[in-house]
Amino acid sequence: MGIKLNTEYLKNFVSDAELKAMAPAVAKAHQDLHQKTGLGHDFLGWVDLPSKTPDALITELTVLAKDVASHSEAIISIGIGGSYLGIRSTLEFLGGGRLPVYYAGHNMATADMVRILELIQQKNVTVVVISKSGTTTEPAVAFRIIDQAMQKKYSGAELKKRIICVTDAKKGALRQIADKAGYRSYIIPDDVGGRFSVLTPVGLVPLALAGVDIKAFVDGARAGEKEYASTDLSKNICYQYAAIRNVLYRKGKVIEMMASFYPNVQYVAEWWKQLYGESEGKGGQGIFPASTILSTDLHSMGQMMQDGIRNMFETFIMIDKVADQVFIPSQTEDTDKFNCVAGKDLDWVNKQAYKATADAHYEGGVPNMVITLDQADAFHLGQLYYFFEKGVGVSGYILGVNPFDQPGVEAYKTKMFALLGKK
Ligand code: PA5
Repeated sequence: MGIKLNTEYLKNFVSDAELKAMAPAVAKAHQDLHQKTGLGHDFLGWVDLPSKTPDALITELTVLAKDVASHSEAIISIGIGGSYLGIRSTLEFLGGGRLPVYYAGHNMATADMVRILELIQQKNVTVVVISKSGTTTEPAVAFRIIDQAMQKKYSGAELKKRIICVTDAKKGALRQIADKAGYRSYIIPDDVGGRFSVLTPVGLVPLALAGVDIKAFVDGARAGEKEYASTDLSKNICYQYAAIRNVLYRKGKVIEMMASFYPNVQYVAEWWKQLYGESEGKGGQGIFPASTILSTDLHSMGQMMQDGIRNMFETFIMIDKVADQVFIPSQTEDTDKFNCVAGKDLDWVNKQAYKATADAHYEGGVPNMVITLDQADAFHLGQLYYFFEKGVGVSGYILGVNPFDQPGVEAYKTKMFALLGKK
């Protein structure tokens, strides 16, 4: 069980001496995170969140999930950004849960909303509305529409058991709505920002309802919390990852391409892009987080990655043991000359494609690291989330930014509110 970091394809790009030279900056970042002495220290609740998550909450949500499964055929999860991506990323990575989850409030596309409204008419659903601030336009507008549709279909106790709010303890309109309507609600801790919130009720409530093993998920994060607390850079792969990306950034590698040969990692990369983009992209600085799914995108982005402007490094996400096996058949005539792989497991071929790509990209001037998960389950994903959260805390502090605010996100909101006439 576990997560490994392979750095063999950094040779000639990041030397041992350069990595060692980052140790003091890493140690300072570690201290600032653990002693709460750095920028944005009011938002460090995620650092020890896994070990502080009460088992009683996990049990309560598991019991609630059983009840919801007894009366609902689908879950509608309303939220955007940190109140959406971690949920979707987890479910896509795990191949779904017991109940299907439909998403709303992460865009304002009419066609998507029409499908959700049809779903409410056709099936028995439970709605989870998630917004830390309780004031975000997309989920607020979506909830207005969905709440009305739910009230048309259900009433009284039936309605109340089908709407669950996840929001701040005291502030925001969603808190007021939940309290006034008597909807069940869960609290997002004040000191955990949106993009760090997947291990709070933001992720735990909808994931439990969908049927994910949230105990294993939190246990994975707990393992990460323990493992990535070491101040010894040579032993802490999370801190190595943070340090390496800063060494590469200083050498002009300003784009980090997360690449995976496993399509179920696609939304993990979307979650990671928010985490790293919002945490580091400020003050004219930051590594631009991008993602590809291979080998699919080798037939579209492959040329650019191999041969385009050399300002990129890659982080591969690999899965060591996949759940299933499919063997490639032999053919008598061997017209396509692929009898060379006859009898091989398809995942073996996939892994050869990865090895060839890592090697070719390295030779083409794209250094890369590989993060390998032993297997694609809730435990390893919980650990990976913690790895990336801690990684961006350290990396952002090394970069010299406050990794825990997002002032840039407000710019479009101010202009939009003016256009909407919102007070
Ligand atoms: O990281 C963040 O804080 C943001 O991306 C939020 O998650 C996003 O804007 C949604 O905010 P809220 O949960 O307050 O609706």
